[in-house]
Amino acid sequence: MKHKHYSNWMNFNQAKHFILILLSIGTLLSCTTKSVPSFQENNLEQFRPAYHFTPAKGWMNDPNGLIFIDGEYHLFFQHYPDSTVWGPMHWGHAVSKDLLTWEELPIALFPDSLGYIFSGSAVLDEKNSSGLGSTTTPPLVALFTYHDPKGEKEGTKDFQTQGLAFSLDKGQTWQKYEGNPVLKNPGIRDFRDPKITQITQANGKSTWVMTLAAKDRVHFYESANLKEWAFLGEFGQGVGAHGGVWECPELLSMNSPDGSQKWVLLVSMNPGGPQKGSAAQYFIGDFKKGTFTPDDTMIRWLDYGPDNYAGVTWANIPEGQNRTLWIGWMSNWDYAQVVPTLTWRSSMTVPREISLFDVDGTLLLKSAPAKELEKLRGKAYDLSGNESLLPSAAVEILAEVTRDDNFSMMLSNELGEEVIINKEMGLVTVDRRKAGKASFHPDFAAAHSAPMSWTANKLRIFLDASSIEVFVNEGELVLTSLLFPSSPWKKLSVQQGLKSLEIREVHP
Ligand code: FRU
Repeated sequence: MKHKHYSNWMNFNQAKHFILILLSIGTLLSCTTKSVPSFQENNLEQFRPAYHFTPAKGWMNDPNGLIFIDGEYHLFFQHYPDSTVWGPMHWGHAVSKDLLTWEELPIALFPDSLGYIFSGSAVLDEKNSSGLGSTTTPPLVALFTYHDPKGEKEGTKDFQTQGLAFSLDKGQTWQKYEGNPVLKNPGIRDFRDPKITQITQANGKSTWVMTLAAKDRVHFYESANLKEWAFLGEFGQGVGAHGGVWECPELLSMNSPDGSQKWVLLVSMNPGGPQKGSAAQYFIGDFKKGTFTPDDTMIRWLDYGPDNYAGVTWANIPEGQNRTLWIGWMSNWDYAQVVPTLTWRSSMTVPREISLFDVDGTLLLKSAPAKELEKLRGKAYDLSGNESLLPSAAVEILAEVTRDDNFSMMLSNELGEEVIINKEMGLVTVDRRKAGKASFHPDFAAAHSAPMSWTANKLRIFLDASSIEVFVNEGELVLTSLLFPSSPWKKLSVQQGLKSLEIREVHP
């Protein structure tokens, strides 16, 4: 992360001061004006989503260590339990059997003398290549970044190193490896977010490859035992979008629609996204012996909304499922720390299944809502005339677009707040300029558009208490946005272009 990124962040003491200042302002205001509601009068949970994961309390950012083990999806996450702004990072932990209802478990990893615990990933070391478990009790191995705040403050360049932790009880408890750090810093200020891919070679031997963000590029490292890492190669200098620092990369093997194998590299970047602030781009190409070769130099974005960052996929999904499951952090570093939620900050996106599709000979990545979400569908409501009342704040809207390919609809509440979702002249837009609370950041009230040169047939829109996720053609184009309406959305009006529409309550 560039200096700019870090300047958004606070160390523990700054965070404490910030909270004290906020509390004093709050006290001052409640003494001087009667109209400012106190926290008690406000509904603290007004923006708490019904079916998106949020931490019970405190701060959350990136998903980490995503892994499926024995019927359970584990979701670790960047967490600061003692405050609602970023601070000394821990790995929070939640599990789910269905990707929909999550149980938050005790914190998995705490900061230690080597630093805060930044983002990273986890794998099942089935053959016990690390020697940290046994073949009967294969260890789960997590690789993460140690961020040493002291080194950062002193102006050194090597304050981010890679650490290892392992679990012998399927992720319930974790031990840090005594030989940490397993990968030292070669003198690069931004050197973080290891994501491990297991690659099986033609001779049947498998090797671990680490993809790491190194300022304006990714580095690839290789290991036979997850503990000793050798540099393999790098990718990205001068290729793709470079409006900010590269973060949270992932290398994935995926099938193209014609059945051939492709390699996909996901790279989050902050700032410099298509809607300002944070966003994730991806590259499609080939990966051999540490060299990633993209098919072309086109810039591709995973999601055109402003609020989807640092997403990665679940490891160890059974092959029979034949799918790549992904989740992102539903926020943006531009304003993540000041959004108007009171006891917690940030939620994850809905879980998504990513796959490749072809538009006129060009491969793109689509992200469809995970099929599990269909299990949440409750009662159905149709439009009466061109309007429908929304039964709750948590709904899924399913629509078919007419053949002329343009559409327009609007969500509104009794306070005159509104969100417009439309396609016009090849642009799909989610307009939240008048969508409620926005004064916390000058760029929040904005309309966000995405180019779509091909035909829109179908829409699925997921609404929750403080978000909207618009999936066009099952994720061929996606826009994810936070929304903070002063009162829940009450009405959906269709202005143009939809031949069928159904509203389903979402019941977690
Ligand atoms: C991405 C990120 C990562 C880092 C983590 C720190 O949002 O900046 O690069 O590991 O957040 O919380």
